[in-house]
Amino acid sequence: MEMLMFDINRNINIPIYQQLYENIKQNIINDVMRHDEKLPSKRQLSHYLSVSQTTIEHAYQLLCDEGYIYSKNRSGFYINDIVNLPVTYKTKVPAQTNQDEISYKYSFKLGAIDKEHFPSDLFRKYAKEAFDEQQVHLLDSGHKQGDLNLRKEIGHYVFHSRGVNCSPQQIIVGSSTEQLLSIITDMISDSKYMIEDPLYKQVRNLLKRKHVPFEFIPVTQNGIDIEQIKKTDYDVVYITPSHQFPTGVIMDLKRRTQLIKWASEKSNRFIIEDDYDSEFRYGGRPIPALQSLDNSDSVIYVSTFSKSISPSLRVAYAVLPKNLITLYQKKTNIEGGTVPRHTQYMLSRFMNEGHFERHLNRMRKIYRTKRDHILKQLRKYPETFAISGELTGMHFILTVTNGLTIEDCISRIKEADIDIKPLSHYRFKKTDNKPHFVLGFGGINTEDTEDHINALISCLTKRKKTSSL
Ligand SMILES: Cc1ncc(COP(=O)(O)O)c(C=O)c1O
Repeated sequence: MEMLMFDINRNINIPIYQQLYENIKQNIINDVMRHDEKLPSKRQLSHYLSVSQTTIEHAYQLLCDEGYIYSKNRSGFYINDIVNLPVTYKTKVPAQTNQDEISYKYSFKLGAIDKEHFPSDLFRKYAKEAFDEQQVHLLDSGHKQGDLNLRKEIGHYVFHSRGVNCSPQQIIVGSSTEQLLSIITDMISDSKYMIEDPLYKQVRNLLKRKHVPFEFIPVTQNGIDIEQIKKTDYDVVYITPSHQFPTGVIMDLKRRTQLIKWASEKSNRFIIEDDYDSEFRYGGRPIPALQSLDNSDSVIYVSTFSKSISPSLRVAYAVLPKNLITLYQKKTNIEGGTVPRHTQYMLSRFMNEGHFERHLNRMRKIYRTKRDHILKQLRKYPETFAISGELTGMHFILTVTNGLTIEDCISRIKEADIDIKPLSHYRFKKTDNKPHFVLGFGGINTEDTEDHINALISCLTKRKKTSSL
């Protein structure tokens, strides 16, 4: 056998036995090494590559375990017939990167969390536990609503933090808010929906994709227009009352009661309450969830761990009113059990040991510090910036009031390599063309906050170039 074909690189971070294993495997798959051909002995190859015999042994063992080669007693290792192997990759699958995403020098994007303070040690510990022999039952498929332990923890949490009244039997765990809304629309399928404008675009896209009839209800300075809801013959309304996405408007108690009254007047009326970032409230009296005020089983409460833990966890949950949960349980062709059980295990342990609560308290302080710093800098320019929707969450609305048009602002922002979305990005119906922006601060590292906000302020406050005569 020609040994020079082995391509070993000692300057990369991949163990040599793994490189050797991969080399031989590719040669077998690509027919360079043929069935029943003998491999060099461990001694020969170790001498040739100047590596230990243990390294060669390791590589050969892996190839044996996977069926690429076989050993003959006292004779050595031979290439197997791979025709019957279940999986053979011709070429190595390149590691996935996020290269498609444009990167910016300064990013105020939404949906990002603070990664510096993520409790990695705890999740590492729970991940280890989840794959322990004692948890081998997690390899079986789980309950379609999610594992009971996790549902109990969620039930306990939403009651104590948001006043949401429910039993674990009313909770369904899903992999995203969008997915839960899809399940909800499968259950309430012959109704027409009302959605906020502006809004979390995925909601509108989902309804469109599923051919669910819907209408936009404008969000005014005081929240969604209830009078307009009353005028329609639509039965389901989707809202974000605790921190309207993206305007940040908080729906007052009067509107909440009016809305619940409207829903309670007919048994097929429902309010879908999306409480996506209520954990981070920085001031004012805490407003309980709409669900906690509902006596008529009209509110479907939806929330997510995307802001409170991480968007990559892919865990969201819905609390269904009793009539809907019965319907969900009866339906056989409905999505369920979409969150990996090991993830559910880790999350329920994290919550059960009190770490979720501690994490939230810690993160609230961290986000508040970032937010306060950004607000303090912006408020030094009262003639240039107006701020709203800053009481909760990880974003707020920044309006540029110094006479720059939206087009001026966008071109300056682009030139400064800043990622910040105009509010119009989330609107479907045209209103004013004022320079409103949605500023997300969750994902900015603490030490980079100053640079970020300075870059934004400087590009929006610098004087317009005047053309010389
Ligand atoms: C209104 C709203 N709901 C929900 C989410 C999060 O959804 P998911 O649970 O799919 O991550 C977001 C994320 O930005 C949001 O803005």
